[in-house]
Amino acid sequence: MADLQSIKTRFGIIGNFPALNRALEKSIQVAPTDISVLVIGESGVGKEFIPKIIHAESRRKHQPYIVVNCGAIPEGTIDSELFGHEKGAFTGATSTRKGYFEVADGGTIFLDEVGELPLQTQVRLLRVLESGEFMKVGSSQVQKTNVRIVAATNVNMMKAITDGRFREDLYYRLNTVQIDMPALRERKGDIHLLFRKFAIDFAEKYRMPELKLTDDAVSYLENYAFPGNVRQLRNLVEQMTVVEQNREVNSVKLAEYIPMNANLPAVVQKSSGENAGSDFGSEREIMYKILFDMRNDINDLKSLTSELIKNRGNVDLSSQEKNLINRIYTPETQTANPNSLLYFENNHQKEVHHPTIISDNDDHHYNDVEDIEIEEAKPESLSLQNNEKDLIIKALEKHKGRRNRAADELGISQRTLYRKIKQYNLEE
Ligand SMILES: Nc1ncnc2c1ncn2[C@@H]1O[C@H](COP(=O)(O)OP(=O)(O)OP(=O)(O)O)[C@@H](O)[C@H]1O
Ligand SMILES: [Mg+2]
Repeated sequence: MADLQSIKTRFGIIGNFPALNRALEKSIQVAPTDISVLVIGESGVGKEFIPKIIHAESRRKHQPYIVVNCGAIPEGTIDSELFGHEKGAFTGATSTRKGYFEVADGGTIFLDEVGELPLQTQVRLLRVLESGEFMKVGSSQVQKTNVRIVAATNVNMMKAITDGRFREDLYYRLNTVQIDMPALRERKGDIHLLFRKFAIDFAEKYRMPELKLTDDAVSYLENYAFPGNVRQLRNLVEQMTVVEQNREVNSVKLAEYIPMNANLPAVVQKSSGENAGSDFGSEREIMYKILFDMRNDINDLKSLTSELIKNRGNVDLSSQEKNLINRIYTPETQTANPNSLLYFENNHQKEVHHPTIISDNDDHHYNDVEDIEIEEAKPESLSLQNNEKDLIIKALEKHKGRRNRAADELGISQRTLYRKIKQYNLEE
């Protein structure tokens, strides 16, 4: 049986937090069996490592390993994708097709976002898990397969069961062994390690000098809630590697990318992990932080406004000032939902819509704010929905419609992307 360190090295897993080590050790232990495993954890915590380890450490390692993102496959085709279909089973079924359960015979299937499976598919899945039997869509012939299932979810399965969206019997069948992946905010000691690893990787990828963190930047990151977990940290390091001139990153610079007050919803929402909530300090501390941030924003804005007034608009704004305006004029971006593009936007330096000064040239009035009209950015340019839609279209075009890559680039899960595509009618 492989040891923990060799697994970490082989899969490029960084971190030493006990709960992470336990999750990895459990994967190594259950790998040689055929037991079904359910991996639970927030978005971006590294759940995908677990099925890979389990497959690689099992007797099935030379057989197929198939990843199915249950949330990304449209409800109408998922049964056929998983179990195959007969010719003529539905319009467009011009030939018989094998499903993943047939193709993966002898191997492992990773059912990602399993909580998203439609109920009718859950019935078929339960049958194949219990008896190894399934039928192609449109067929009455029973087939056999021998597949090991590892499933993952970031949704609250108990709630899905109470809401009638997930079958309880299937849940217990999938969850013979449960592996919990800890959130990044619970593994403070791993944050700097991960930052260094990503800084090295991206420095190499983009042929740039490596980013380094000052001490205050390290503690800033350790106090940030990371709603998007390791994926968010990775995206942050990638962006900063490319964009930042100064290779030494301090907390002020970090605050431009991940403002502390964007933390709030994630701080308030406690996770179910063992250390949940214990590290965030009191509510009062959070309120102080917000007030402190607001005071700084107001002071910065005051000095910026007076400079603008003095210079009648001919001011070159520094990136920090642009960021400030961006933050103040787009308050809706202060959300920490990891599955929301709004949150993603918050981490991207977007085109800044700073106020334009329209005024007469009446110099003796230059100190009189009332005489100066500040034209606010046009409402549509600040529409998060439009920006979100545009970003999705751009990402899809860039990746030639490949949703997995587009989702990766956008920093959201495929399931979220799929929903957004539906929402904005971008199916074509
Ligand atoms: N401990 C770690 N060491 C190195 N990289 C990590 C670690 N944990 C996660 N990552 C990286 O973070 C990114 C997100 O991980 P992953 O795709 O496994 O998340 P997930 O838990 O499946 O999230 P989702 O529920 O959104 O699918 C990946 O690029 C992964 O390589
Ligand atoms: Mg995943």
